[in-house]
Amino acid sequence: MGLLSNGNYMIMLILLVLSFALSLTCVNGGNFYQDFEVTFGDGRVKRFGRGQLLTLSLDPVSGSGFRSKREYLFGRIDMQLKLVSGNSAGTVTAYYLSSEGPTHDEIDFEFLGNVSGQPYTLHTNVYTKGKGGREQQFHLWFDPTLKFHTYSVAWSPKMIIFLVDNTPIRVFKNHEAKGVSFPKSQPMRIYSSLWNADQWATQGGRVKTDWSKAPFTAYYRNFNANPNHVAATAAFTDSKWQNQELNAWSRRRLRWVQKYFMIYNYCTDFQRFPQGVPVECKI
Ligand SMILES: *[C@@H]1O[C@H](CO)[C@@H](O)[C@H](O)[C@H]1NC(C)=O
Repeated sequence: MGLLSNGNYMIMLILLVLSFALSLTCVNGGNFYQDFEVTFGDGRVKRFGRGQLLTLSLDPVSGSGFRSKREYLFGRIDMQLKLVSGNSAGTVTAYYLSSEGPTHDEIDFEFLGNVSGQPYTLHTNVYTKGKGGREQQFHLWFDPTLKFHTYSVAWSPKMIIFLVDNTPIRVFKNHEAKGVSFPKSQPMRIYSSLWNADQWATQGGRVKTDWSKAPFTAYYRNFNANPNHVAATAAFTDSKWQNQELNAWSRRRLRWVQKYFMIYNYCTDFQRFPQGVPVECKI
């Protein structure tokens, strides 16, 4: 140390701190100031630090929401969420990808709250050309209000995979060859919102929001988009995404989730489709 003058020592220290800060921003990936904008709820959307953490809140006057500034066409989107804890009955935390217009495509995660001690329902859906009706619902194998968990969409021209902590819970394959439309030409934004849906959300709407517990809060961090956002039209030819397949471990996990945690599947709702379930269910 005797070799370094005080000035040199200071410069070294500054460099060290700078490179540490840089490595942090790289690890965290997304920045909620840079990458997202508020859609409603004003001050109910809060961002902390350098934008690594975001919270949404819901009170009797309003819920809140945000969306990505960018649009994406294929890619893998990861977000860590910690959901409204305690009595979250009546609340819905939505996290989805959507394009715009009457023939929009959409890939949905919706978390339906519950009374204390009862499980959330994770509701999923896929809209193509403005048409949804492809609901699958799950309970989770953990309490999603205690810690952050990672919810992801891996979207390629071949398939859409919904993942929870890297476990695939649902796969929607491209069956265009069989006449089923697939989202592949309309770029989507990432949206999230927290709102009151106590007419239907919890136990079929029988349990209402307990406003004495408001404001309700959901937490977001570590957003990461492995892009293919629209600026890169190379998306269509990116072999990594086109060749994406589930490996043996993922297929086993998917079967495990579908066997033990799936609570609704439109593909087996024969009452709802007396003329026969949709084509993609039969393939
Ligand atoms: C709430 O808890 C009940 C009872 O365990 C369960 O049937 C239901 O699926 C849960 N979720 C919602 C959103 O009602």
